[in-house]
Amino acid sequence: MVKKNACIFISGKGSNLKNLINRSRDYSFPISIKLVVSNKKKALGVLHAKKNFIPYLIINTKSQNFENYLLQDLKKRNISIICLAGYMKILSKKFLRNFGKKVINIHPSLLPKFKGLNTFSKILKHKEKKTGCTVHFVDEKLDNGKIISQRFFFIDPSDNEETLRQKTQKLEYSVFPESIIKIFQNY
Ligand code: GRF
Repeated sequence: MVKKNACIFISGKGSNLKNLINRSRDYSFPISIKLVVSNKKKALGVLHAKKNFIPYLIINTKSQNFENYLLQDLKKRNISIICLAGYMKILSKKFLRNFGKKVINIHPSLLPKFKGLNTFSKILKHKEKKTGCTVHFVDEKLDNGKIISQRFFFIDPSDNEETLRQKTQKLEYSVFPESIIKIFQNY
């Protein structure tokens, strides 16, 4: 199969990146990761790029020109999809329009519930019965855009923010790759 070139954006730990790198080794997985972009120089996830010899780019989102510079790089590498995996910045409408290809994001809640930050504390505060994760297409609004896949689990009374995070991330490691497969089958 001819794989599509993908770029993964991160800001932190990069455990989803690590999982996608592992999955993309599979011959039948539809993407090959050609670039990792981080807005944080010290993001732990950058180490996964280094270890796996994947080119990476540290961007300074405060610099005026970073979007144009990034767009040129993505074009040069023929990137067909951007996966936001814990990237903590909003991509501008202009960037999304100029990229013009698929951009997806993973969020640790059952969207449209609990957009934005501090997801797990909000979930506990609202005494939700279940929670999970969502992969969706990205538009210019935060955690918005058409939903591709979701998965949930029931919250236990003993759960706290940390256990919710762990349980949610476990689901993310299957939902994110499955969504990528779904996208290239259906869209
Ligand atoms: C994930 O939980 C994702 O849902 C959220 O940020 C987290 C990133 O974790 N958007 P990691 O850096 O992939 O470990």
